[in-house]
Amino acid sequence: MIFPEGVKMLYKLAPDFSLRDADGEERSLRDFRGRYVVLYFFPRAMTQGCTKEAQDFSSRIGDFKGLYAEVIGISPDPAGRLSRFRERYGLDGIHFLSDPELRVAEAYGAIEDGKIIRSTFIIDRTQTIRALWKRVKVPGHVDEVLEMLRTIHAADMELLPEIRFRRAFRAISPDPVPRELVQRLLEAAHLAPSCFNNQSWRFVVAEGESLEKLRESLAGGNYWAKRAPVIIAVASKPELGCRLSDRRDYFLFDCGMAVGNLMLQATRMGLIAHPIAGYNPEKAKEALRIPEDYVLITLVVVGWHGDAGKLSEKHLEREFGPRERVSLSEVAFWGYFGG
Ligand SMILES: Cc1cc2nc3c(=O)[nH]c(=O)nc-3n(C[C@H](O)[C@H](O)[C@H](O)COP(=O)(O)O)c2cc1C
Repeated sequence: MIFPEGVKMLYKLAPDFSLRDADGEERSLRDFRGRYVVLYFFPRAMTQGCTKEAQDFSSRIGDFKGLYAEVIGISPDPAGRLSRFRERYGLDGIHFLSDPELRVAEAYGAIEDGKIIRSTFIIDRTQTIRALWKRVKVPGHVDEVLEMLRTIHAADMELLPEIRFRRAFRAISPDPVPRELVQRLLEAAHLAPSCFNNQSWRFVVAEGESLEKLRESLAGGNYWAKRAPVIIAVASKPELGCRLSDRRDYFLFDCGMAVGNLMLQATRMGLIAHPIAGYNPEKAKEALRIPEDYVLITLVVVGWHGDAGKLSEKHLEREFGPRERVSLSEVAFWGYFGG
């Protein structure tokens, strides 16, 4: 994708704020959850450039709403002046917020030498900054913001790149993975939802001697996993999760959700994270000193992408072959089971 000059696209959590709007009501970013937010900072209401910019945004409010977006204009003006600005120029649809101490502008990096620099941010529906413009030139700006928003919205309606790209890759490099990255994977796993928030997962990152021993427990078909620099064991037991009627023991489900998070986080970070069931559970538990009453649910094999030349012919084919799935209609039904 080619970005218009001066535009940056990124993924950064948007700082939340709490400011008075032109009607004196307190407004926060979280009030706009689930909507895109076009947040723009301007130096002073009623001046020529700021009036033109606001009029441009206001004239395209219908287009922004059509893309599930709200437009927020922030300046150091007091709420009363913002209200007069809105009335005088009929700037309907823009949420004007007053930031007299420039705290929010500062949090967004939209000030220089104590003054606002005209800036615009596109914040997505997960309150992540996806595009930003600094030192905005007003003519044509609203059109470029709309165009970018259209692009972002269209991209967001596609399958997540991490889901599309992830595979059970086996060509893993033995190069070490820094501890802090493994820690990040564990954080991602630990942020998974779980029944009653029981967090029934337990992780053991095999290292040093325990990793050596764990490798010995791997099934022959998992020869490729022996090269991996990191293996994370996922263990739990029924009592750690919800136990409900009709055989609904949720510990396995909780752990599956956690591993799902871990895999997608790894994919985004350029890592392979491949869960396996092919190991001797008694040997593996012994290697990691996992208590007898725990189920060792899976080992997640983690590492950077590496040399595929070390794979068997069968695995080489899978590494690069098409993704195999039965058709969705065989497993997903609308209305009734099997319907
Ligand atoms: C619980 C579980 C256990 C698995 N065990 C192994 C394994 O022991 N060895 C292996 O090579 N792949 C294993 N896999 C990988 C699957 O074979 C793979 O996910 C499946 O073929 C779909 O391919 P994809 O992940 O590339 O879409 C396992 C996957 C899961 C979820």
